Amino acid sequence: MAKPIILTGIKPTGSLHLGNLLGAVKPVVSLSQNRQNQGFYFLADYHALITVKNGQELNRYTMEMAASWIALGLDPDNVVLYRQSDVPEIFELAWILGCFTPKGLMNRAHAYKAKRQHNESRGERTLDAGINMGLFTYPLLMAADILVMQTRWVPVGRDQGQHIEITRHIAQAFNHAYNAQVFVLPEALTEDTVAVIPGLDGQKMSKSYGNTIPVFATRDALRALIFRIATDSTKPGETKDPDNSILFQIFRAIATKEETDRFYQQFVEGIGWQDAKEQLFDLLDRYLTGPRQIYQEIMHDPTTLRRILEQGATKARDQAQSTMKVVHRLTKNQLV
Ligand code: TRP
Repeated sequence: MAKPIILTGIKPTGSLHLGNLLGAVKPVVSLSQNRQNQGFYFLADYHALITVKNGQELNRYTMEMAASWIALGLDPDNVVLYRQSDVPEIFELAWILGCFTPKGLMNRAHAYKAKRQHNESRGERTLDAGINMGLFTYPLLMAADILVMQTRWVPVGRDQGQHIEITRHIAQAFNHAYNAQVFVLPEALTEDTVAVIPGLDGQKMSKSYGNTIPVFATRDALRALIFRIATDSTKPGETKDPDNSILFQIFRAIATKEETDRFYQQFVEGIGWQDAKEQLFDLLDRYLTGPRQIYQEIMHDPTTLRRILEQGATKARDQAQSTMKVVHRLTKNQLV
């Protein structure tokens, strides 16, 4: 029996930051090391096209994200690592699936709804202002990503749960129309324990808030950013509340239990903010030194990285084509 397929994608819309690393990349990398499943990991560059309209930028983010994944432990010899746009079968299937998708299902997708609500609250002339068809049909392309590979498990953040439900809905509609088990029904794999990482200002770390700590910044840039993290006005020697400290929350997401307990105790004993920042910097710098080196090596050898992605695309297309054979046979009676 073939191993069950585990698949996930990441949208390359910016450089990897600490929030992405701890919330999404680290859990995915550790799942990828489990050899019970066959892993498919891809850069969803044509999903990113919804917002990134500069070719050089899109290519750079895609390469950076692939290099980040590898630097953090994703092994392209054990998993299929590819760029979405290198697998044309995905886009063909997206069209076909659209013909089995009630429009109302897309109307209810949360990213589209949120954008319309935002337009409403700003009193825009039309609720669809600034919404392109890529955003509207986002879940359809995501369903094609998943179904074309016969995916069983999809590691995603909680915000993506609805997209997996939509994918199941579409898969069932297709299977039902042809009375055949063409598509495997996928399930979301969502970790309950994933921490939300606060950014420099204490809001959730996010590119759209401009409060991120990039993972592969230089050592000096990293130190400068850590020293910009917001703190309150308690003085050295005064007890500090770890649970209300951005520094402490970031520290805790990376450190061992012992390190965290020790840091906690120092807060109670009134560690100065300078000192606390120095310790967070040390911890992060130690944590990132190895990956940073691998990342730099990969980024300095784009030919190798491109070859890795091409080899991944070849394997991904093999898998996709075997699904499409069945889809062609059913939809238009094409026998080869
Ligand atoms: N929508 C996902 C995100 O923003 C990225 C993505 C695209 C994806 N296609 C996918 C994730 C397929 C899992 C499976 O995080």
